[in-house]
Amino acid sequence: MKKILHVVGARPNFMKIAPIMREMAQYPDQFKQMLVHTGQHYDANMSQVFFEELDMPRPDVNLEVGSGSHARQTAQVMQRFEPIILEHKPDWIIVPGDVNSTIACALVASKLGVKIAHVEAGLRSFDRSMPEEINRILTDQISDLLLTPSLDANDNLLREGIAPDKIHFVGNVMIDTLVRLLPKAESLWPSLKAQHNLDRYILVTLHRPSNVDEPDTLSEIISAMMEVSQQIPVLFPVHPRTLSRIEALGLNINSNGNNHLIMTNPLGYLDFLALQIHATLLLTDSGGIQEETTYLGVPCLTARPNTERPVTLTHGTNQLVKSQRDAIIDATEKALNSQARCKQIPKLWDGLSSQRIVDVFLGDIK
Ligand code: UD1
Repeated sequence: MKKILHVVGARPNFMKIAPIMREMAQYPDQFKQMLVHTGQHYDANMSQVFFEELDMPRPDVNLEVGSGSHARQTAQVMQRFEPIILEHKPDWIIVPGDVNSTIACALVASKLGVKIAHVEAGLRSFDRSMPEEINRILTDQISDLLLTPSLDANDNLLREGIAPDKIHFVGNVMIDTLVRLLPKAESLWPSLKAQHNLDRYILVTLHRPSNVDEPDTLSEIISAMMEVSQQIPVLFPVHPRTLSRIEALGLNINSNGNNHLIMTNPLGYLDFLALQIHATLLLTDSGGIQEETTYLGVPCLTARPNTERPVTLTHGTNQLVKSQRDAIIDATEKALNSQARCKQIPKLWDGLSSQRIVDVFLGDIK
């Protein structure tokens, strides 16, 4: 029997841990599972709604760290996580992705001699000004098991000197959740379509510090969205970080007679998936959305100079665009006018990645 402690902290973690917990629950004689929520994300629509929609068990422990500077948030997670490890003595912790909670919990576990499995290991943007890139590199260096979503990730890890026997290419676990919940999301579409009066539309998300913390950049992107929304409705569920920056700038971006820009609160998983499936185009700076649109075959513009998910460019529907007004308007027009391209789904993005992860654990991992 292995005692496994799963860690979640921020919105993109929930859809990665949920399928692994479901799969491990099939083997009650092999795994005793426990779930810790760091509380990095705490609003109901950034956290609670995902537990309900993804059928996740309630966390056994919530560290309730909340927001703060990177140092403060990371340090608070570490301080509060250490006694949990000491009390429960897991054999393994499983940490997903690249958020501050990921590196904080991995660091604590490594110092206490608890083994670490990193889900979504090996992704690299090669841009160390991104806080997530630092979290990825450091988490991978101290992990005992590196579970990769794509083969470029294996190459990155090998180049950084990680022992080959620690690396397992399992595919994209987030796609497991998407595949499972696709029919449920589809069933919500008719009411969403009616609610927002949608036909063709662009769906937008923005939250990267590089886009929203710099007033000039945020103003350029918003200005492009306003312009584009004169041609086609733009639906914009706004991340709390982005909302506070928009409010601080006093930007007035409500719809007027000439444009059609709809701002909403952050949406739950199912509503957002339904809206992705039916969108004409996505404009985003999220990591996960680059992957989900690739799987769905929906065109995606990513407002970033680089991506840690290059298969979405080479195999998928993703394209990078500069965070500048004219560049966004131009790329949007081209994307709206181009014929749908035939795209490939990357290898092992098939809904079975959590099974492969559990197989790795059921095998003889030392
Ligand atoms: C974090 C992750 C990022 C991930 C994103 C998904 C890091 C370094 N970044 O960024 O990789 O893509 O989550 O959303 O871990 N806030 C709320 N309510 C919440 C959560 C946050 O109001 O439930 C506000 C707070 O004012 C906070 C700000 O949003 O200051 C940013 O939250 P934080 O968790 O620090 O980073 P994100 O920008 O969400």
